[in-house]
Amino acid sequence: MFTIISCTNRKLALSKTVSSFYQRLLSHARVESRVLDLQDLPVDFVGSALYENSGSNQTFNDMTTMIRESDKLVFIVPEYNGSFPGVLKAFIDGMEYPNPLKDKKCAMVGISSGVQGGALALSHLTDIFNYLGMHVLALKVRMPGIEKLIVDGEIKDKLVLELLDMQIKDLIAF
Ligand SMILES: Cc1cc2nc3c(=O)[nH]c(=O)nc-3n(C[C@H](O)[C@H](O)[C@H](O)COP(=O)(O)O)c2cc1C
Repeated sequence: MFTIISCTNRKLALSKTVSSFYQRLLSHARVESRVLDLQDLPVDFVGSALYENSGSNQTFNDMTTMIRESDKLVFIVPEYNGSFPGVLKAFIDGMEYPNPLKDKKCAMVGISSGVQGGALALSHLTDIFNYLGMHVLALKVRMPGIEKLIVDGEIKDKLVLELLDMQIKDLIAF
């Protein structure tokens, strides 16, 4: 089972749309997957699931269990202020020890309104994931100008589709 993580809790996030699209691509490649949407995090999780409250928020625990039970992970990462969203870091900081990300394998997709496609966000996140012992696939797909790339929930851009196809093949073999 692969898990695709939509890495923001923003309502109407395009990350969720890209996650659903990625899930359809995985399904065409005959890979079973599910989407873990950080919008489902309890609104009070920073006060009820972290540090001294670790383990006591069942919804949060269920979400980290989804990570633990996954064979491979795909992170759909929006660019917020030149990096990845703070809610993702809080989610990672709330994970129990031993960290569920250790020894996992993942791929990353960056999305942004601007021209970077989350290049720095993916780089920052790679540092953290490597620190935690997770292996990050070298082929990272960046989607700049995301509002124009997605039309009716679909991505039609030939180059982006080719890169996603290559990434999925690499991730399956990873
Ligand atoms: C708090 C915040 C910060 C953002 N910072 C950037 C940025 O630094 N560079 C950029 O190109 N887009 C930035 N954006 C736009 C997002 O990249 C854009 O909304 C994109 O759709 C992906 O995010 P989404 O999943 O929330 O829709 C920002 C959006 C938000 C909400």
